[in-house]
Amino acid sequence: MIGTPRFPIRPAEGDPLAVPRIDFPDGIGQVELPSGDTAWLVTRHELVRQVLRDPNFSSDVTRPGFPIVRRLPPQQMAPSPGSFIRMDGPDHARLRRMLTPEFMIKRIRLMEPLIREIVVDALDAMCAEGPPADLVQGFALPVPSMVICRLLGVPYQDHAFFQERTRTMLAWASSMEAILAARDELIAYMTELVAAKQRDGGDDLLSRLVAERVATGEMDAAELIGVAMLLLVAGHETTANMIGLSVLILLRHPDQLERLRKDPESMEDAVEELLRYLTIVRTGLPRAVVADTEINGQLVRAGEGVIAWLDAANHDPSVFPGPGELDLGRGSHQHVAFGFGVHQCLGQPLARAELRIALQELIDRLPGLALAVDGVEYRDSFILGVQRLPVTW
Ligand code: HEM
Repeated sequence: MIGTPRFPIRPAEGDPLAVPRIDFPDGIGQVELPSGDTAWLVTRHELVRQVLRDPNFSSDVTRPGFPIVRRLPPQQMAPSPGSFIRMDGPDHARLRRMLTPEFMIKRIRLMEPLIREIVVDALDAMCAEGPPADLVQGFALPVPSMVICRLLGVPYQDHAFFQERTRTMLAWASSMEAILAARDELIAYMTELVAAKQRDGGDDLLSRLVAERVATGEMDAAELIGVAMLLLVAGHETTANMIGLSVLILLRHPDQLERLRKDPESMEDAVEELLRYLTIVRTGLPRAVVADTEINGQLVRAGEGVIAWLDAANHDPSVFPGPGELDLGRGSHQHVAFGFGVHQCLGQPLARAELRIALQELIDRLPGLALAVDGVEYRDSFILGVQRLPVTW
C-alpha cells in the first residue's frame, strides 16, 4: 500500500455499499483522518473485539488523541451530561444500569403487539396512498420514530422536528453552525419535555425516570435530558436506515427473499445477516488509547486514536466465509454491527424486534413488492441509509 490511506472512505458517487475496504496484513494500520491527524484502524474481527472490550480504549471524546472522523464544532466536543455513549467507567455504568431493565428482551417482548400495530397501521396508510410510494417516508422512518416516541413519551406530532435535526447532526454536508443549531434546538425541546414530565407525569420511560431516578437523586435533570436525546436520536435513525436498506437488499436478492417468504421461521437469522452485511455504522467506533497496549504485536500508545472498524470485522473471511455474499441462512450471530463490550448497543433487542416485525409484515402483506424505478437515493450521513426508496406492489 502506498502512503497512508484516508479514512473514512466516502463514495464520490454511486453505490455506497460498494465502497472498497482498507486491509492491513496484521489487521491494524495507520490512516489519515479528515482533520489531517492519523489514527490506528483495526480491521480484523478478533482485534475489533479486543479493542471494544479493553478499558485501555476510552469512549470519552475529550481524551487526548480521540479520533474525530468528522470535523465538529468545539462545543460539540464538550462532554454533554447524560450522553453515556461517550463516557467511561463508573459514570457510564451508573447511567446505563438505570436504563438496562427498560431494554431487556423480556420487556421488549411485551412491546411487540404495539410494534406490530404501528407497523400494520403504517403499511395500511402507505397502501391507501399508493402504489407507488417512497418506502422511507411511508414506512421505514415512521415505524421506528413512532415506536421510540411511544416508549419515551415524546409526542409523535413533533416527528418532523426531531427527524430533521437528527439528519442535520449526522450529515457530512452540514456546516458546523447547522450542527450546533440542530443540537441546541433538540436540547431546548427535551428540556421542555422533561419539565412537562416532572410537572404532569405520565405512563412512559421518561416519566418513570423522573419519578424513580431524578426524584431519588440518582440522576439529575440535565443528565435525563442527555439520556432522552441519546435514546431519541439513536432510537429512530439507525433502525429506519436498517429497515430501508434491508428492503433494498432483499429486492436485489430475489432468491433469498423467496426463501424468507417460504420459511418465516428463518427471519431471526435473516435479520442478523442483514445487520452483518449492511453494518450501517460505517465509520466504525472511535476510541482514545489511555495506556500503551499491543494490538496483534503493534504497540499503540496512550494519547493515540484507534478506530474499531465494524464493517471490516463483519467482512472478516476467517469468521464469515465469502463475506461479500448475502446468505440469510449463515447464522451470523458473531457480527459486531451493534458494537461489542460495555458500550454494546443498549437498544438492540428493540431494534431486532422492529426489524423482524417490519420485514415480516411487509413481506406477508405486499407479495408483489418491487423497486419502482432504478436509482436509489442514499442518505448523506455517516450512518449508511437510503433517503428515498420508490417502490411499487
Ligand atoms: C439497527 C439499529 C441499530 C444499530 C445498528 C445500532 C448500533 C449501535 C452501536 C454500534 C453502538 C455502540 C457505540 C459504541 O460502542 O461507541 C450503539 C450504542 C447505543 N445504541 Fe444503538 N444501534 C441501533 C439501534 C438502537 C436503538 C433502537 C436504540 C434505543 C432505543 C439504541 C440506543 C443505543 C444506546 C443508548 C447506545 C449507547 C450504549 C452505551 O454506550 O452503553 N440503538 N448502537
